[in-house]
Amino acid sequence: MRRIILAGNWKMHKTQEEALEFLQGFMPQIEKTPEDREVVLCVPFTTLGVVSKNLHGSRVQLGAQNVHWEKTGAFTGEISAPMLVEIGARYVVVGHSERRQYFGETDETVNKRLLAAQSNGLQPILCVGESKQQRDAGETESHIIRQLEEDLVGVNQENLVIAYEPIWAIGTGDTCNSKDANEVVGLIRSKLSNANVTIQYGGSVKPDNIDEIMAQPEIDGVLVGGASLSPDSWARIVNYK
Ligand code: 13P
Repeated sequence: MRRIILAGNWKMHKTQEEALEFLQGFMPQIEKTPEDREVVLCVPFTTLGVVSKNLHGSRVQLGAQNVHWEKTGAFTGEISAPMLVEIGARYVVVGHSERRQYFGETDETVNKRLLAAQSNGLQPILCVGESKQQRDAGETESHIIRQLEEDLVGVNQENLVIAYEPIWAIGTGDTCNSKDANEVVGLIRSKLSNANVTIQYGGSVKPDNIDEIMAQPEIDGVLVGGASLSPDSWARIVNYK
């Protein structure tokens, strides 16, 4: 069965104190959220500890935003899967377009990170999506198919979430039309061997468009940046109608 997963990606936002303040505002607002919705917060490495302690026993799952493929070693600035598991993370974002664009992440390293996450019991959220240039050139489909082929080599599709995040819609307020997003998510599903993979949409998801996005038949959830930073807007998204 396809699960509904609503994940916030805080990116490089919030100190420990700000994270605690967020939780105080957010947690009371999800007491009536339907049980079949999984709620995840992917927070910066420095807030994982405090958020983990404060989410303990709650329905909200903890996620990280990157993971290295080795367990230990001389990899300055990186974090391994066992470190994330120990601190209480269940999910990890892998291959976000900001990692690919600004930090030299390639399909090869994305694949290694996915495999390492899975073999240590973390559930990876693989991000794929096209640039504006690729969309305008009619290359959306071929680009995404290539990303999936290269990223998913050897990856277990029983323990995988995919987020379709068109790069031009991230942080721009320029949301992908929900029907177009639904179509690309359907395309992604058609390329998978497991039809039950949860596939999210991400890119300028907000309280005022969440209901329409979640009404699309192929879309099983969202990966949200900016609008996951405020307790009220994130609660409205999680409590979509
Ligand atoms: P925004 O919701 O800020 O557009 O970011 C989307 C995103 O990149 C989530 O990973």
